[in-house]
Amino acid sequence: MPNILVLNAIHPDGIARLEAEPGYAVTRPVPFTPEVLSAHLRQAEGIITRGTRIDRDLLRQAPRLRFVCRHGVGYDNVDVPALTERGITLAITPEANAASVAEHALMLMLALSRRIVGFNADVRRGDWVVPAQSRTSDLAGCAVLLLGFGRIGSRVARLCSGFGMRVLVHDPYVPDNTVSGLGFEPAPDLASALGIADIVSLHCPSDATTRGMVDAGFLAAMKPGALLVNTARGTLVDEAALEAALRAGHLAGAGLDVVHTEPMTSAIPLLALDSVIVTPHVAASTRQGLHRMALAAAQNTIDFFAGRLNPGAIVRG
Ligand SMILES: NC(=O)c1ccc[n+]([C@@H]2O[C@H](COP(=O)([O-])OP(=O)(O)OC[C@H]3O[C@@H](n4cnc5c(N)ncnc54)[C@H](O)[C@@H]3O)[C@@H](O)[C@H]2O)c1
Repeated sequence: MPNILVLNAIHPDGIARLEAEPGYAVTRPVPFTPEVLSAHLRQAEGIITRGTRIDRDLLRQAPRLRFVCRHGVGYDNVDVPALTERGITLAITPEANAASVAEHALMLMLALSRRIVGFNADVRRGDWVVPAQSRTSDLAGCAVLLLGFGRIGSRVARLCSGFGMRVLVHDPYVPDNTVSGLGFEPAPDLASALGIADIVSLHCPSDATTRGMVDAGFLAAMKPGALLVNTARGTLVDEAALEAALRAGHLAGAGLDVVHTEPMTSAIPLLALDSVIVTPHVAASTRQGLHRMALAAAQNTIDFFAGRLNPGAIVRG
């Protein structure tokens, strides 16, 4: 009888899916005191987590744990080597949030290009001003550079193409002919692609090889007046370097769904800039996205304990 601990609030249909499974004991998320959480961890064989860190301290309290499912696709809140040492399987919910995040990236591109936030604030203040010199621009005809051509990046490519944009793709792990076969331009030389793109959008994971990759050098190589969009992970970006590039006028704006330290408990310097739009890591959290992720996390859990987990969902098995 699998004992499943759901650490954070998920769509109720995901809980219902687990509870409908014969023999399942499901502990629903409540504000756990450390003592109550500890008692649940002692029993848990499976865990579903959204934001809670799965680290050595938590694992020490969970001697029976065999399976962890991350509700989402990024698993930088999970200590994978610690799971590996214990032989615990880690799964994610691939595809469940890809459409939601891809749309959010497009939304940030549009919001920055059309200065939506500023115009909306002007009108609310009573300033109905149509500037003589336009400071907005079309997406059509712009070049966008996508860093990462996985589930989300490849969808963003299709959406950008639909807007009439030139789409360049930099992904060291995807063959150039895969990118060109889908009608996009492979950009193996990152530095020269950065000099071409009007918009750079990040869609790669945050790991030891990518953390801090958007540093002063990366930003200096970007085309003057370009925009940066980040719906991937805040740790990819050196925020001080980004602030400097924006203040210097080298970049025209940044749209960030993710920041270095989340949750943001006090205002970061980037928030002082009108050219920056920040959303609180909600790209995946549409009604449909949350529903799909909860159902996928529940299904992965059921499939793991039935011995038929989809290999495509497994990070480590
Ligand atoms: N904001 C949100 O709510 C939200 C939701 C879901 C996913 N994400 C983030 O979006 C990112 C992409 O998710 P996905 O589902 O598309 O993942 P994915 O694994 O399908 O794709 C990631 C791609 O990045 C590529 N990549 C790795 N290193 C790279 C590098 N140095 N330069 C360029 N490309 C590189 C990989 O080859 C892969 O194709 C992840 O960081 C994930 O954490 C954010």
